[in-house]
Amino acid sequence: MSLVGRDLISLDAWTLEEITLVLDLAEEMARSLAAPAGEQPPFAPLDRILATCFFEPSTRTRLSFAAAMHRLGGSVICLQDVKMSSLAKGESLADTMRMMSAYSDLIVIRHSQEGAAQEAAEAASVPVINAGDGTRNHPTQTLTDLFTLRRRKGTLSGLKVGLCGDLKNGRTVHSLAPVLARLGNEIVCIAPPALALPGEYMEETERLSGKRPAETEDLAGAVADLDVLYMTRIQAERFPSPDEYEKYRGVYVLNAALMRRAPESMMVMHPLPRVDEIAEEVDTDPRAAYFEQAAGGVPVRMALIALILGLVEEVEGSKRWGFE
Ligand code: NCD
Repeated sequence: MSLVGRDLISLDAWTLEEITLVLDLAEEMARSLAAPAGEQPPFAPLDRILATCFFEPSTRTRLSFAAAMHRLGGSVICLQDVKMSSLAKGESLADTMRMMSAYSDLIVIRHSQEGAAQEAAEAASVPVINAGDGTRNHPTQTLTDLFTLRRRKGTLSGLKVGLCGDLKNGRTVHSLAPVLARLGNEIVCIAPPALALPGEYMEETERLSGKRPAETEDLAGAVADLDVLYMTRIQAERFPSPDEYEKYRGVYVLNAALMRRAPESMMVMHPLPRVDEIAEEVDTDPRAAYFEQAAGGVPVRMALIALILGLVEEVEGSKRWGFE
């Protein structure tokens, strides 16, 4: 099993063993990052370049990829302000990707169009990682979600997971639900009917888990019986008009009163950014895992980069990376 040279467009193309390989190495990366200064393993300077190409806003994903590459000792170049690049002159995505392949060893792309990452991978001659394509996929967020879930719950299966918010437009949910189903978890969809999980994901989830996800609009009712609550924001930018968005703004707000109805062991996740769907009073609840979840993006992306670039070698049963 090797991830060397592979693209990551959707986790549907990756086996559970391959996903576990990333999570296990991410644990090692997290341990070394947590070591006191001076005791961290030397990440020798790495003669590799990561290109981040973001055509949509991002804080966590872009910067945690950059931080991960720097932690591994490599360098980062960044196509960010698209108005300042040749795309503004009418250059195609494919031509841009051909050029980025000449300047880098690995490309991370975020784009507003579904399928753009696949198109980029076909044009690029270096591996491409999808950092979000429209409402479709966000596989590295799913890996980050699974990392924190496994750390907190000690397992990735047999859990009852509530997905709440804009399940129609949220790509984090579209990526996560099929993997949770494959791992043998039960899914409860909590959304207004207009923002329900689209049929294709419902059917996929049912096919993979053997059980159709339950659907409800009622967060207060659902929260009483969940192992994990995965909150998401209403995706304003994907609504046809601001008026349409206004109808759903603030439809769910997880607050301390709702948390009192939830099990003591329930874990609250959110891919962030949050808008108003989790009240700040919940942040200090020990069940809130979302900032820890975001921090996990660095070791997870370190592991992913190391595996795709072939920086990891098995040495006497344990993994070694870099050229130390
Ligand atoms: C998510 C995204 O871009 O899909 N953000 C992230 O990467 N953590 C979630 C969102 O924008 O709601």
